[in-house]
Amino acid sequence: MAVKILIINHALYLAKELASFLTKVGYETDTCVTGKDAQIMMYNKKYFAIVLDLAVQDHPGPQVLKFVRQIHTSVKVILTIPAEQNLQDYNLEKNLLEKQGVFDVFIGTPSFKDLQIAIEGHRDFGDIIKNESGVGVSEETEANLHDERFVQISIDEFISVRAVQFDVFVKLLSGKYIKILHSGDTFDKERVEKYKNEKKVEHLYFLKEDRTKFVRLQNFVAEKAIVNKKVSAKSKVNLVKGLSEIYIDAVYEEGLKPLIIEQGKAICDNIYDIVHKKNDLHKLLREYSSFSNSLSTHSYLVTFFASMIIRQFEWDSKTTNETLGMAALLHDIGCTKLAEDIREMSPFKMNEEQLNRYKLHCQDGVDILNACPSISQMVKQIVLQHHERINGEGFPCGLKYERILELAQVVGLADEFVRHMVDNQIRPPDALKKMLLDQNCLKRYNGFIIERFLKVFTDPDGQLNRSLNIKV
Ligand SMILES: [Fe+2]
Ligand SMILES: [Fe+2]
Repeated sequence: MAVKILIINHALYLAKELASFLTKVGYETDTCVTGKDAQIMMYNKKYFAIVLDLAVQDHPGPQVLKFVRQIHTSVKVILTIPAEQNLQDYNLEKNLLEKQGVFDVFIGTPSFKDLQIAIEGHRDFGDIIKNESGVGVSEETEANLHDERFVQISIDEFISVRAVQFDVFVKLLSGKYIKILHSGDTFDKERVEKYKNEKKVEHLYFLKEDRTKFVRLQNFVAEKAIVNKKVSAKSKVNLVKGLSEIYIDAVYEEGLKPLIIEQGKAICDNIYDIVHKKNDLHKLLREYSSFSNSLSTHSYLVTFFASMIIRQFEWDSKTTNETLGMAALLHDIGCTKLAEDIREMSPFKMNEEQLNRYKLHCQDGVDILNACPSISQMVKQIVLQHHERINGEGFPCGLKYERILELAQVVGLADEFVRHMVDNQIRPPDALKKMLLDQNCLKRYNGFIIERFLKVFTDPDGQLNRSLNIKV
């Protein structure tokens, strides 16, 4: 069943042109030129999304928005605004549009392709794949593009799906890129295998502008893989690690758009599901050594370990995990305001001046998040407090004890633990031992949080606990 889209635009020819484009790519479309007609049509038919021109007349755009918010809350609204000035004309604030049910906003005239991406960004990937007609496989073509345009992924992380939604490239020894799969192609596993086995290609590439499509695909694949008992815990963790890192790079470079925030929540859900499957994760953690100094790897590891810690609490739930997960994924977003030479430097290695600048990243992070209405106050508070410590030696405010949110302490503990692990290139159990042997470290966190943290490394029978000789 085709996905239904309603296009409301004061210019009928524009509505018709967009409808024709969306119909060609598989959608069922309706058009109208007034807000009043739009409301009647929404009464009579269930639409997946509406593309609403704010300048529409006879029940103006804001009235249609109000109608959607009150009656059809599940409809995804993609709003097009001729110019930013029009928002003032209607007493609307850009930052508050999300709260009014708007999923994406385009100021000026977006391309049809941009609108398609916005619609698909909010669709369930399984639905897209089910409806994909599969148009075969295109020829390989050479792409004359520079390295900085591409994102690299391991060829083993590229899991087969029925169709690819973005162009996929390989890089030849000469440095040239060859497009081996075109967006819309049916997935050609043989072609990918041939490059892997015969040409010894280890990586595939896609364009940076396709990062959100990649994250959406991998979130979908991860969701399926997590419930598949044949897929190892290691593969699941690596899959989510790879997609989280690309996600965090996209956030840092492109900012937090509504679509990107939604994808972050899907990542947190996937991490929650991995952590909650009884899949011997603690065994994997003994050997875990897949880390680098990059901010994106750091943010993923903090999210992963914070989720592992929170699992040990009675108040653990999917909702708490999403708050914690989003805060952990974004906890160092303020570091994007740091000069490049110290952005990925460990604070343990900074001089005083660098350290003072680094300490501003908590408030800088909150300032960035304040521009996103769908980020909760709780997430912002955790980001602000993730370096506060109960003995008052933390920053930015030197808060003590119960004045620090417990979730902020969990992110803080995971953050410090990951720093130990990555800075010293040691495995999780060794980083844990190092922390526990440091008396000052133990004074920085509530005992019950440390206790739960220890349980993360305990297998159901307590075998690992005994072998590490850790007293809980
Ligand atoms: Fe931080
Ligand atoms: Fe951090």
